[in-house]
Amino acid sequence: MSQNINITKIEKSKVDELDFDNIPLGKTFTDHMFICDYEHGKWIHPRIEPLHNIPTHPAAMALHYGQAIFEGMKATIDSDGTPMLFRPKKNAARLNFSANRMGMPDFPEDLFVEGLKLLITLDKYWIPPQEGSALYLRPFMYANEHFIGMRAATSYKFIIIASPSGPYFSKPIKLFTETKYIRAAAGGTGEAKAAGNYAAAIKPTETAKAKGYDQVLWLDAHDFNYIQEAGTMNLFFKIGREIITPSLDGSILSGITRMSVIELLHDKCYKVTERPITIEEVIEASNNGTLEEAFGTGTAVGIAMIKEIRFKDTTIHVSDENPVGQMVSDTLNGIRSGNLEDKHHWMNKVEIDLGVTL
Ligand SMILES: Cc1ncc(COP(=O)(O)O)c(C=O)c1O
Repeated sequence: MSQNINITKIEKSKVDELDFDNIPLGKTFTDHMFICDYEHGKWIHPRIEPLHNIPTHPAAMALHYGQAIFEGMKATIDSDGTPMLFRPKKNAARLNFSANRMGMPDFPEDLFVEGLKLLITLDKYWIPPQEGSALYLRPFMYANEHFIGMRAATSYKFIIIASPSGPYFSKPIKLFTETKYIRAAAGGTGEAKAAGNYAAAIKPTETAKAKGYDQVLWLDAHDFNYIQEAGTMNLFFKIGREIITPSLDGSILSGITRMSVIELLHDKCYKVTERPITIEEVIEASNNGTLEEAFGTGTAVGIAMIKEIRFKDTTIHVSDENPVGQMVSDTLNGIRSGNLEDKHHWMNKVEIDLGVTL
């Protein structure tokens, strides 16, 4: 099956140094990385190597003009020790959507999935086994041509690195609605997973955190009224019998957890509506007692229950009973750990024999 992916294995794994009961978030990386170069209009030399630094020319175009995109996904392990990926083709397709928006080349989707599978096979002992834990995978692409001038770069790197993440005990979160800055405008790059979107969110997010909130809730750029998303999550509101999530209007990231949650809710016969929803509607529902639940969805957080939303001088308190959010969270975790039936065939088992032992 290998598409000539050259593999150079590390001499001795560092996995013994990891305390699986106390994994520092985002700071530990596995033994290997996948790399592929784009030169002269072609992706060449796909390879897996021991994790290493990459020399960067100071004129590398990603540093100046921001052609940099990424993905985020998780590998889990079933009770037999087989690694599994959650809907990897969706991430491959979204990476190419982002690449297209940012004037970058497509990365072959089958090579994306195969690179992930080989990397996970080599680094499978790094996948934390507890339900809710996972190996976080970070595929990314950036312009590494050294050139000063505004045009699409002609050379890029596509890389996948992996970082184990501990169980995410999601505590209900507090959101701060931003009314000065925006994350994305119609026609902008909000629907792409472009590094610059995150850069623009950092200052408002730091300010919200300093005020005691967990994340920023973003409103639309035109009216500052329509709800977009929050942090690295898409949003769901249960108002009466209806579960509403903002429709994908081009400024919202199309979350893979979001689409999976919609399917799970349909399985349970809930009415899910993808439509524009304003912060005023949520305040009104809170005032008249029909706002029953609010939760965020994303690869990093899973399902995060929302207990409070601040908008100007108004504080919306959401009930701490979250039967729908909890059902969705338990179902997703159960499917990811292989403990619940995967009837949509979301999990891709990674069964490659590279003779990897510790
Ligand atoms: C801005 C933003 N919105 C939503 C999401 C949720 O997307 P997904 O469910 O694919 O992780 C993410 C995380 O990737 C994100 O960065």
